[in-house]
Amino acid sequence: MNNTDQLYERRKKSVPNALGIFNSSSIQSAKGAIIIDADGRALIDFAGGIGVNNAGHGVSEIIEAIKNQAEKFIHASFNVSIYEQYLDLTEKLCELLPHGNSTKAMLTLSGAEAVENAIKIARAVTGKSGIICYNGAFHGRTMMAMTLTSNVKYKEGAGPYAPEVYRLEFPYYGPTQQKQFSSEENFSNYHIDALKKFFSNYVSPTQTAAIILELVQGEGGFTVASKKYVQYLRQFCTENNIILIFDEVQTGFGRTGKWAAYEHYGVIPDLSTWAKSMGGGMPIGAVIGKQEIMDAVKPGLIGGTYLGNPLSCVASLASINYMQKNNINAAGEKVGKVVREKFNQLQTKYPKNISDVRGIGAMLAIEFVSPETNRADADAAKAIINKCLEKGLIVIASGTYGNCIRILSPLFIEDDVLQKGLSILEEALKEVI
Ligand SMILES: Cc1ncc(COP(=O)(O)O)c(C=O)c1O
Repeated sequence: MNNTDQLYERRKKSVPNALGIFNSSSIQSAKGAIIIDADGRALIDFAGGIGVNNAGHGVSEIIEAIKNQAEKFIHASFNVSIYEQYLDLTEKLCELLPHGNSTKAMLTLSGAEAVENAIKIARAVTGKSGIICYNGAFHGRTMMAMTLTSNVKYKEGAGPYAPEVYRLEFPYYGPTQQKQFSSEENFSNYHIDALKKFFSNYVSPTQTAAIILELVQGEGGFTVASKKYVQYLRQFCTENNIILIFDEVQTGFGRTGKWAAYEHYGVIPDLSTWAKSMGGGMPIGAVIGKQEIMDAVKPGLIGGTYLGNPLSCVASLASINYMQKNNINAAGEKVGKVVREKFNQLQTKYPKNISDVRGIGAMLAIEFVSPETNRADADAAKAIINKCLEKGLIVIASGTYGNCIRILSPLFIEDDVLQKGLSILEEALKEVI
């Protein structure tokens, strides 16, 4: 078996350089929040395969479900031969995440595909084409999802992108905004006003099919949308026949201490997109929506050979049941409290290097700036990530400028493992800055 260095050497020969390296770790097996790498080292996992492993690695219920299903059949295509594993999952999703009086769900392969389908549905239902998205957004790597994604480093050279997509400033009341506005209320009012002006100057609500946003931006650096603004969006969309879509791909399934981030807002979207921790590690996503919207689309518009693959369906259902039984939301809240306390301590200790601690629940990030310039310090984040790996912790960056370190650890994580991971992060930080 190859060690980590050998794997990266082999990678150079057969994998394109364009595929990013977010962390230079490797894996040969994993259990709970611990990864055993190709060198036999035990590493604490604060990345969770980019937010996929909220339930942790090696959950026996998920493994058993996959094994049992593999012996029955691996693929049939739901469009050709119906199977109950698909329905078990859609029923569970609709029960767990109701969108109004009656809810329906379609399954996809990934988060990006969920986003593609949500946009198609919104356009088909409203008969309108305009889509509104936000600065800092990340919605995936397929063509429409990439159009909606903000960061140009993901997009450069791969256009032209889809037309009729407009971008607004994301309403996060962070430290910079706190200096400009006397209160969060004023800040939110400013953005609500900007939204109204936007719809007079750029595109009419009569031409707008959907507004899509992440309530806590994942790749954008865990910035949190203003509650008042989101509540206004709900009202505005209802009044103007615009479909409100929340992208819950990274925020979902306990990460913020709730099944959905929108539960923190008291707002129900028309459609929502899901993936990552929904599948317990298997590739699967979903569009969940109000029944009248999901059913208003003509047959044939949505589909795909592999959507709702039976192995992914049973893994997802087993994972959701496991998370429900063990109260993932309480676990998310608990992890969030511990991490936030540590991050706040670090910010107090290093106020010139750490400009912000933000997020909801266990979806938390710490932002680094250069003390000389007060500008984004991606080098510091990168150096800390590398130092953490040397010391036995896997973490990854986030943010448009790559200057945040985010926590996406399993939520069922032992207290001592979580504490150990945070101490490694603190030590690494101390050595680097
Ligand atoms: C909020 C959000 N939406 C969509 C996606 C795309 O999901 P996938 O990588 O499964 O296509 C991601 C992935 O990071 C995401 O964070």
